[in-house]
Amino acid sequence: MLHRAAEYSMNKLESRRRRDGLIYDKLMITNATDEAIMVIMNTYIEKGDEIILPIPTFAMFKFYAQLAEARIKEILYTSNLTFPAKKVLTTINKKTRLVILCNPNNPTGTPIDRKEIIQIIDKAQKYNALVLLDEAYYQYSGEECLDLIDKFNNLIIIRTFSKAYGLGGLRLGYAVSNPEIIKNMLKAGSPYSVNTVAMYAASVAIDDEDYVKWYVNEVKRAKKILYDTLAKLKIKTYPTSGNFLIGIGTVKQTQQLIDALNEILKK
Ligand SMILES: Cc1ncc(COP(=O)(O)O)c(C=O)c1O
Repeated sequence: MLHRAAEYSMNKLESRRRRDGLIYDKLMITNATDEAIMVIMNTYIEKGDEIILPIPTFAMFKFYAQLAEARIKEILYTSNLTFPAKKVLTTINKKTRLVILCNPNNPTGTPIDRKEIIQIIDKAQKYNALVLLDEAYYQYSGEECLDLIDKFNNLIIIRTFSKAYGLGGLRLGYAVSNPEIIKNMLKAGSPYSVNTVAMYAASVAIDDEDYVKWYVNEVKRAKKILYDTLAKLKIKTYPTSGNFLIGIGTVKQTQQLIDALNEILKK
């Protein structure tokens, strides 16, 4: 298998994806979502184009937006770390080229309401702007918007095998959009960026739904233990839909947390 470049061994994964309802011409398999973000920027963003980016968020959005010399309009999450939907909506205008949404968001864990996602895609579509929706953690939140791909022509969803599948080292992800966008993105991406081992490993991983379900439940169980421990120590937390959370405490509380978690681990 290793003597063949991945481009020629993609059929296996793609045929399984077809069974999952993901049709080949709506799918681009990428070297993790990192490459998907880069390809989207390379395909659609020119110097000076406006990108709306709610912050704080995953660093690579800004990294590739800056490389593309975009004009980045950052919009702060609220002081309660909820998604600034109204601000995002009112900021979209005829200069907007791309709106970036991360559901749930890293590092805040914030979910975005489906209704708000639809309103944003709808308004962006009216202004010929694209929406990049990152669903890296969708297995944890249980919320996904794949069905919206067929309802809007300006939506690109990116996903990764790095999180719930635990395969970060393989560097595998994918983008889903309408066939025209995917065709354009494929032109801008390298046909050889995904390696054969990653393709085979992922094609086995996506068949093991029970493992992913078990793993996601384990994370939920651990998250509850962590929340309970943080509450006992009076460390302020925010709701999260991801497999991580933000807590704000003193150095002393942090040490108490480490001690408490070590005690739990011993049991
Ligand atoms: C929201 C989000 N998207 C994408 C990624 C990167 O995933 P990948 O390993 O597929 O590049 C991360 C990693 O932390 C992330 O938090």
